[in-house]
Amino acid sequence: MSLLRKKSLASLLAQAGDSEKGLKRTLGAGNLVALGVGAIIGAGLFVRTAAASAEAAGPAVTLSFLVAAVGCVFAGLCYAEFAAMIPIAGSAYTYAYATLGELVAWIIGWALIMEYALGAATVSIAWSEYLNQLLGGSIPYEWSHSPFEHINQVTGTAISQFPADLASMAKENVLLINDRQLAGLTGDLHGLVHTSHGIMNLPALLILLLISLLLIKGTAESAFVNAIIVFIKVSIVLVFIAVGWHFINPANHTPYTIPADAPGHEGFFKHGIGGILGGAAIVFFAFIGFDAVSTAAQEAKNPKRDMPIGILGSLVVCTVLYVLFSYVLTGVANWKDFELAGKEASVSYAIKTYMTGFKWLATAVNVAILAGFSSVILVMLLGQSRVFYTMSTDGLLPKIFSDLHPRFRTPYKSNMLLFLFVGLFAAFVPGSVAGDLTSFGTLFAFVLVSAGVLVMRKSNPQAERPFRTPLVPVVPILGVIVCLGMIIALDINTLTAAFVWMIIGLVVYFAYGRGHSKLKA
Ligand code: ALA
Repeated sequence: MSLLRKKSLASLLAQAGDSEKGLKRTLGAGNLVALGVGAIIGAGLFVRTAAASAEAAGPAVTLSFLVAAVGCVFAGLCYAEFAAMIPIAGSAYTYAYATLGELVAWIIGWALIMEYALGAATVSIAWSEYLNQLLGGSIPYEWSHSPFEHINQVTGTAISQFPADLASMAKENVLLINDRQLAGLTGDLHGLVHTSHGIMNLPALLILLLISLLLIKGTAESAFVNAIIVFIKVSIVLVFIAVGWHFINPANHTPYTIPADAPGHEGFFKHGIGGILGGAAIVFFAFIGFDAVSTAAQEAKNPKRDMPIGILGSLVVCTVLYVLFSYVLTGVANWKDFELAGKEASVSYAIKTYMTGFKWLATAVNVAILAGFSSVILVMLLGQSRVFYTMSTDGLLPKIFSDLHPRFRTPYKSNMLLFLFVGLFAAFVPGSVAGDLTSFGTLFAFVLVSAGVLVMRKSNPQAERPFRTPLVPVVPILGVIVCLGMIIALDINTLTAAFVWMIIGLVVYFAYGRGHSKLKA
């Protein structure tokens, strides 16, 4: 049955060995760990920690990070087995092609677009938030937000006319109020509230353009820029942890989870223990990227040894940093701050508001975060173009996605098309929507990669496995269960949008890919 046609392991390995015609092998183990950390630490940590804390977990977001890490470690062990065994550019898509057949491979490839392309869009939106913060809020709201977002604010002396409990929330002469509070106001106060609506997110487009151009220039150059950024990014996380530790207010950690009667927190995944799981689904985003290391397998000098080091090494480094960071952040500021005033650019907000004497740190953090986000976008766009590259060489996508630049040997046309596609999302979709879809796409790929390890062990038991996932079948099965659990904890709108996206994917496959596949007899 052609939907189940598979690529043989032998043909994949031949493809991996044939580096003369294809991508250049320039990356060592150190580069790969840096690539992983470059992709991992980003908006997930600097934006979504606060969001998960405000929306679901409260101070227990630290535990949410641990839950998400457990799911990632199971999946990461499975990725490592595949990446060392089949070191070619397509990552999860390629593994599925060899184990579960063409249709499932296509489905994963399509889901990976959600992970990498929308991941890049999400982080570019966060980049725009922090740029605005760095520039003292001088970018007009309209030109730095999507049309689906708005903000209600009261400024200056008008604030004093509002009920004291609201007015006391004002920061720097600006009072932000949410729609629930707005609905509760009397008529004359309504008139004092100014609501701005987004039009498009221009800074997000700008950073995507710059990084797309860098990627076209070359992978080695990109890896070099990435390594510098990773150094800056990790240093600033360590400084924040060390300095912030002294500003932890233990009262902010009590109660440790959000109480069941907190307004707006009615759902199971929005308070208490359930909130920890809901928070895990949100901060899961922060771990996305370790798998992107596997998309660079075809550019690794010694993939058999270095792929597992790159994938698992970067995962471990980031987990330790995340747990410490979230503990400090929720200790410095109260989780309720992150609902409004500290919702955007939460880390510099916390520093400016509560860590007196460290204003310089807020600026340094901002700069480092901007650089850090750039490296995440870089690896996401790199990953996406490499997945497209492989799908295109397999015939499932048009040839334009695998055309290499005559001199740089990078898939430049693909990079340019990708910029247009990702740019649309970055400019017009809110960050949280793109972020949740990214998590869905990634979790979905994790589930299938974990299941793929089991299938491959059965179908090709003798194949050389430079790295073996330990405790098979327990680890892959737990990988499937934990990642499915996090998918269920995503909100219903995300699940519906993801479902629609997958249906579109099936239509494209049957209209194009199936007939053009190189495996077609
Ligand atoms: N893990 C990446 C981030 O947090 C996607 O930005």
